[in-house]
Amino acid sequence: MRLIAANWKMHKTVSETEEYIRAFLRLVEHPESREILICPPFTSLYVAGKLLEGSGVKLGAQNCHHEEKGAFTGEVSIPMLKEVGCEYVIVGHSERRHLFCEDDELINRKLVACLEEGIRPILCVGEKLEDREAGMTFKVIETQIKLALSGIEKYTDSLDIAYEPVWAIGTGVLATPEDAVSVHRFIKELLKKLNPENGGKTRILYGGSVKPTNAGEFMKHSEVEGFLVGGASLEPETFAKIVYSF
Ligand code: PGA
Repeated sequence: MRLIAANWKMHKTVSETEEYIRAFLRLVEHPESREILICPPFTSLYVAGKLLEGSGVKLGAQNCHHEEKGAFTGEVSIPMLKEVGCEYVIVGHSERRHLFCEDDELINRKLVACLEEGIRPILCVGEKLEDREAGMTFKVIETQIKLALSGIEKYTDSLDIAYEPVWAIGTGVLATPEDAVSVHRFIKELLKKLNPENGGKTRILYGGSVKPTNAGEFMKHSEVEGFLVGGASLEPETFAKIVYSF
């Protein structure tokens, strides 16, 4: 089943979250054949979890710490996320990599912790513009995935991967569906190599300037198994249109 995920980033207070979710749930009463996920900021998770209970719409976090507890000022652990109803966590988003200096080793530790704790990670990968221009897209994606999955290759079925070209995030510049499809195919092949017993449960999502006006074009391709949506997920009506774009 395709996964349509909203990444709110650092947007929405608790009261804005309540307002959004009440409106959104009215718009997605019968979301058959697709899984919907909302990833609000940490402060909104509890209230979002309460409001989403029984709706079928899932809750996720945008980040986590890999330790269960301890002296890690400012961090939030996976058991804390699970307690408020999170079933997913975004790991290695390009903003975490570039603005908060998360490296592949840390991302790997977070993935290991997610698998141990039983929360489903969405691993984000993507090349920068200079990588693409240098013809390095596949190499960069391969390296990011290999390092992120180091030692946990046989658990690929327990995670999803979002391909988000860095140059397309929040810029309005979109990869063409064909660009995305070729990377999605490459990732599928790579997963088969890393884990020959892969049961094909890893969904490859596309992210980067997805909007209601372009979502349908991507969804024509079976290789696009969902979206990770930033800016266009902030209004319930707009996000609902993306949810129903296929
Ligand atoms: P965008 O962000 O849809 O605003 O480009 C996507 C993301 O960062 O996940």
